[in-house]
Amino acid sequence: MDLVPKVKVFFASFLFALSSVGSIRHWHFASQPLGCEHLVTNLPGQPDVNFKHYAGYLTVNEQNGRALFYWFYEATTHPDEKALVLWLNGGPGCSSVGYGATQEIGPFIVDTNGHGLKYNPYSWNTEANMLFLESPVGVGFSYSNTTNDYHIIGDEFTANDSYAFLQKWFLMFPSYRKRAFYIAGESYAGKYVPELAELIIDKNNDPSLYIDLKAILLGNPETSDAEDWRGMVDYAWSHAVISDETHKIIRESCNFDSNYTWSNGDCTESVDELIKQYKEIDIFSLYTSVCMGDSASSDDRFKQIMFRPSSKKMPRIMGGYDPCRDEYAKAFYNRREVQKALHVSDGHVLKNWSICNKKIFEEWLDSKTSVLPIYKKLIARGLKIWVYSGDTDGGVSVLSTRYSLSSLGLQITKAWRPWYHQKQVSGWFQEYEGLTFATFRGAGHAVPIFKPSNSLAFFSAFLLGESLPCER
Ligand SMILES: *[C@@H]1O[C@H](CO)[C@@H](O)[C@H](O)[C@H]1NC(C)=O
Ligand SMILES: *[C@@H]1O[C@H](CO)[C@@H](O)[C@H](O)[C@H]1NC(C)=O
Ligand SMILES: *[C@@H]1O[C@H](CO)[C@@H](O)[C@H](O)[C@H]1NC(C)=O
Ligand SMILES: *[C@@H]1O[C@H](CO)[C@@H](O)[C@H](O)[C@H]1NC(C)=O
Repeated sequence: MDLVPKVKVFFASFLFALSSVGSIRHWHFASQPLGCEHLVTNLPGQPDVNFKHYAGYLTVNEQNGRALFYWFYEATTHPDEKALVLWLNGGPGCSSVGYGATQEIGPFIVDTNGHGLKYNPYSWNTEANMLFLESPVGVGFSYSNTTNDYHIIGDEFTANDSYAFLQKWFLMFPSYRKRAFYIAGESYAGKYVPELAELIIDKNNDPSLYIDLKAILLGNPETSDAEDWRGMVDYAWSHAVISDETHKIIRESCNFDSNYTWSNGDCTESVDELIKQYKEIDIFSLYTSVCMGDSASSDDRFKQIMFRPSSKKMPRIMGGYDPCRDEYAKAFYNRREVQKALHVSDGHVLKNWSICNKKIFEEWLDSKTSVLPIYKKLIARGLKIWVYSGDTDGGVSVLSTRYSLSSLGLQITKAWRPWYHQKQVSGWFQEYEGLTFATFRGAGHAVPIFKPSNSLAFFSAFLLGESLPCER
């Protein structure tokens, strides 16, 4: 494989992309404010608001014709004083617009008939300027004109394109260039977020590229494959999803630290038993009902989110898939007038939007087995890491996260205790040197869906770098 020339072409076109936007910028400067061609003015069904929001494509690679779609909401008040936060959903292959922006923490939540939007009073743009990115190409509206790109996507490709996107975005919105910057995300973004953070601090050696990254925020994050699996198994057992016998066989026959975990027949059989039980309920929210409006059988439903490339490889479970809510988002984003308003299409030739791209998920190339070494690097550089976990998620369970964090061996600075919201215990938390861990009591995989008010309070504490309220 002639990797080297490809890399050079990529890098050259990346530089070219940066310089070409630079010149466009000067051209625009005299006439109109930057970014205004992306201002969203007539989104169907949008509630009246007093903040501006922008959506559209930025080209991250000219050579191959790769463009990423973003949606940016200014803060509801004092946007010029508030931080900038990038939000990423996982999958891999799922949309930050479909999940983060319109189901979880954005100001406009897709309502249940797919024809309108309702205002979310707990939107995170009450605290910060919120940027939602559909990444990598193939996800949501983001695309490449080079079909082959879709077959070479993995963690590193995604980090590179997301980074190129950020640099271009800052050229379009220069007043945010020096702003305090944070990255937040959920699920498989547990890998994306630290990886992008690492790339940013490495590139920050060049002052012209400097991004003032302060901290990262991770929700029910995939972190370390071995710990994630151990946690999922123990969680299923301790929450009465699998039997003592199945648990025992998995514990005895599965070596999650090995590259050959799945060549042990006892292990794969007993893990299949675990999967079989989770097919019956919602793995991402143990105590809520499954979506009954969906005609697909539980087997078919699960096939959407599970993929086993071969018996030799680890099965993968796609994060956060909810067939009930997801259909509404799909109906909304495939509407002609919506695509036009978001600067996605001319309203004649439409883009096909879906919330997760299964092909991207299945063909995912490289995935870091653990991002814990990156945690260490970021902490050593003075960045803060906050990790939260909805404690009714069986997919990336609270045990998975606790096993990962405990393996870091960080010094505890504030011992385990409850944190409160509206006089109730919202969860528990513990502070370490450089890292805060908190649980959300009774929340599933996508925490803000279940606990919108608590999540907003939590997000505010994160931005302020303050301890969570530990008194009623
Ligand atoms: C992709 O191709 C279409 C059709 O030729 C073109 O309009 C568009 O600008 C291209 N996208 C990028 C990012 O180059
Ligand atoms: C990511 O970018 C770096 C250069 O910044 C390059 O060396 C590497 O090959 C790129 N990786 C991918 C998968 O594009
Ligand atoms: C597993 O594979 C990776 C990459 O192929 C390698 O770096 C690692 O050392 C292997 N681990 C074990 C325990 O063999
Ligand atoms: C969108 O997807 C549907 C079904 O997968 C397909 O029939 C249609 O041609 C696609 N449209 C576009 C514009 O790609």
